[in-house]
Amino acid sequence: MIRRFPSSAYNPISMFGAVIAIVNFVIILGMLSYELVIGGLAPYSGIIAFIILPSALVMGLVFIPVGMHFERRRLAKVENGEKPRSFYIDLGKPSHRLASMIFISGTIIFLIATAVGSYRAYEFTESVTFCGETCHVVMEPEAVAHKNSAHARVTCAECHVGHGAGWYVQSKLSGAYQVYAAALNLYPRPIPTPIENLRPARETCEQCHWPDKFHGSQEKVFNHYMVDEENTEWSIRMLIKTGGGSKEAGVAQGIHWHMNIANEINYIATDESREEIAWVKIKDHEGNVREYFNELNPIEPEDIKNHEPRRMDCIDCHNRPAHIYQTPSKAVNKAIASGDIEQSLPSAKRIAVEALIDEYTTKDSALVTIKEQIVNAYKEEYPDALESRKDAIDKMIVSVQDIYSRNFFPEMKVRWDQYPDHIGHFTSQGCYRCHNGNLVSDSGLAISTDCNNCHIILSQGQDSETKSIGINGVEFKHPVDIDGAWQEMACSECHTGTSQL
Ligand code: HEC
Ligand code: HEC
Ligand code: HEC
Ligand code: HEC
Ligand code: HEC
Ligand code: HEC
Repeated sequence: MIRRFPSSAYNPISMFGAVIAIVNFVIILGMLSYELVIGGLAPYSGIIAFIILPSALVMGLVFIPVGMHFERRRLAKVENGEKPRSFYIDLGKPSHRLASMIFISGTIIFLIATAVGSYRAYEFTESVTFCGETCHVVMEPEAVAHKNSAHARVTCAECHVGHGAGWYVQSKLSGAYQVYAAALNLYPRPIPTPIENLRPARETCEQCHWPDKFHGSQEKVFNHYMVDEENTEWSIRMLIKTGGGSKEAGVAQGIHWHMNIANEINYIATDESREEIAWVKIKDHEGNVREYFNELNPIEPEDIKNHEPRRMDCIDCHNRPAHIYQTPSKAVNKAIASGDIEQSLPSAKRIAVEALIDEYTTKDSALVTIKEQIVNAYKEEYPDALESRKDAIDKMIVSVQDIYSRNFFPEMKVRWDQYPDHIGHFTSQGCYRCHNGNLVSDSGLAISTDCNNCHIILSQGQDSETKSIGINGVEFKHPVDIDGAWQEMACSECHTGTSQL
């Protein structure tokens, strides 16, 4: 046999390494060309092509010199019982020449491939496919909600990692643990929120959203339908005083200006979900400082240093920019407003909401039961409608199943009450965590609860979109008589989402 390589290369370890390296190299090449030509590798193949196979390839390559090293020692012992000569290259020898050429060109190809490969590995591990779809069950809620949000085109990494090497490395380290936890089924269900060490909004959100931007007042219509046979409309049309961030960019006023840019707000929450706020400190743009203590959840001034205050940023209000889980009532209201559920279908609001609030253990069983429940409800209560409104009922079933698929994830125990939305105050405390009248300063000033500080109601009730508008706003009118309870209680105390409200 003609030996083209140095004799030390002919040993089982090096051969084994070479075979591994070549086989992996060929498979990677195959997968890459598949991706180039046909496109769209499945999530799992991405991990294989960009992470597992290249690691195996490098391992194979390492085996070659290791095997050669031991083989040279063995050969030297066998031949003359001496220690082997130290390493040398003799370009005069054809076998050394060939081996060197292969080594040099191999190294060049390998370095180029590594550069391309690690860039692809970088790109891939930052992709929505990798973050959202690889561990399918674990991240399904976030991935589905993200796909249905205003940020569907923003990658997970742009909010959860951001720019810069430090956070990249940190995210890969914690990511490695998460892959392990997912593989061994060690993760909590649901995944806890808020994320303890989320990168500050300044370095993520504010890379795209200019905090100084003046939004002015934004008109919003909140469509509601009552739980009665007619599904009576009760919509509220409001101007939300979002305002702007700085005097330079427009009038400095409203929700954004007061809260965030000119003023620095720090707070202490006594629970991990940051719902119970005990202390708030505001430093305004002139440097004046004011502290508020919660009369119902007191924290002693000397106790403050035992807590680490959190500096309020975008995420304290916009905590659901990409993962919104709606309450049954709200989701059904939207479906009626868009016509997916016909308002003329008797008691559609109540029947749809009842089908959604039941607890299910798996998504598949939920979808089947939802259909049965809606059909049975009509069979019992409106047998005529089951015939005459068959199309509308079928459309309603599809719509309710769709609402379920987008907002409920029983396998991960995810639904709206696990992830309260902090914008507003209707089904969770939101702004009322501070604006509840209980946080009071030394001078007796409470963080305001005046409805009109945050928004004015333009019109409310039926046909709110066409009704004439009160330019100074109208006083809120609760659609059913609850004896003025809305003035004393937070809306979210009754409108919890767990009932028909
Ligand atoms: C627009 C920015 C943004 C994008 C894009 C985004 N997230 Fe989030 N994500 C957030 C914020 C904000 C939170 C809540 C943080 C908090 O309250 O501490 C969050 C929370 C989470 C949580 C914790 C559970 C929860 O819902 O609070 C997970 C898991 C998560 N995101 C995964 C993902 C995945 C996977 C993707 C991509 C499919 C993604 N995120 C895309 C901003 C984003
Ligand atoms: C990579 C850029 C990017 C990042 C990062 C980003 N956003 Fe956005 N955001 C957008 C774009 C683009 C839109 C507009 C989408 C549209 O109108 O279709 C948007 C829309 C919004 C809206 C309006 C949502 C709605 O329902 O209309 C809010 C609020 C918002 N972003 C908050 C945030 C917060 C909070 C963060 C950080 C957690 C963040 N964004 C991070 C690009 C970004
Ligand atoms: C004491 C309990 C209670 C409080 C507090 C309360 N509500 Fe209601 N709300 C009800 C009841 C009961 C209904 C009737 C449900 C139905 O028949 O549709 C209702 C219905 C509504 C509806 C129409 C139907 C729907 O659920 O979509 C709106 C809108 C509404 N409430 C807004 C508010 C707002 C805003 C607040 C806070 C300012 C508030 N409510 C506080 C009990 C309450
Ligand atoms: C005090 C709570 C609060 C803070 C802090 C806050 N926002 Fe907002 N933001 C709101 C409210 C309330 C709205 C009105 C829109 C709504 O009701 O959904 C709004 C509206 C917006 C909109 C426009 C949404 C639309 O529908 O067009 C964007 C974009 C936005 N905020 C981004 C940010 C960014 C970026 C930050 C951080 C610099 C931030 N917000 C900080 C409460 C807040
Ligand atoms: C962590 C506590 C906290 C949260 C949560 C919070 N705020 Fe505030 N807010 C404050 C403080 C403190 C002030 C300043 C009060 C003062 O100057 O007396 C303030 C002031 C305001 C003002 C100006 C009020 C005025 O008197 O002119 C508006 C508007 C406002 N907040 C809206 C909101 C909205 C909308 C939300 C929910 C999306 C919200 N805030 C959530 C603490 C909070
Ligand atoms: C600290 C600011 C603030 C205060 C005080 C406040 N609101 Fe609101 N409210 C908001 C914001 C912000 C939203 C918008 C939420 C959204 O965009 O989903 C909202 C939404 C609403 C809605 C629509 C809810 C829905 O989802 O249909 C009603 C109705 C309402 N508020 C009534 C009131 C009434 C009545 C009061 C006084 C008792 C009040 N609010 C006090 C900030 C406030």
